[in-house]
Amino acid sequence: MKPSKIKTLKGKKPDEAPAEVSRRSFLSILWSALGLVALMEFLWMTFSFLRPAKPGSAENQANTVINAGAVVSFAPGTVTAFQSGEFYIVRLNDGGLLALSCKCTHLGCTVPWIEKEKKFLCPCHASAFDITGNVINSPATRSLDIFPVIIENNIVRVDTGKRIKRGNFDPKQVIYPPKV
Ligand code: FES
Repeated sequence: MKPSKIKTLKGKKPDEAPAEVSRRSFLSILWSALGLVALMEFLWMTFSFLRPAKPGSAENQANTVINAGAVVSFAPGTVTAFQSGEFYIVRLNDGGLLALSCKCTHLGCTVPWIEKEKKFLCPCHASAFDITGNVINSPATRSLDIFPVIIENNIVRVDTGKRIKRGNFDPKQVIYPPKV
């Protein structure tokens, strides 16, 4: 054999080269695997942070439930607008409460409460709704949507994450504060 073929890797004998190469390959694979694990962990954390909470989950509910105020702050026969949640708290003359959506059920325009006329009047195509959200003038064909009202410790809370579509007003939709 010629001397040039005996030494291949910088002065190392041919029988030492495979062990060195193998150790280097192993370390390279190990570092790649660790890097991949770290990358996957980072992606998972980012995804967990950015993904929306599941509907109905405690996390999601905490984000959608709005404290509207004390029961006594809503006088019977009044309508109070909440811009943040885009709903109205309606206190009926008998003390019952409803949370009505501000969106017209025709094409979704915001419907203001006209105190003088005691009705919701849509500025887009003139649909009108009474204080319970029932249609009194078309083209809308169904009542304003409602949101669940929860009364805890005499505080009115509204879950804006659970919009309820309805055909007409039903007295069963009214929530009454507990009698004291
Ligand atoms: S959007 Fe209200 S009447 Fe058309």
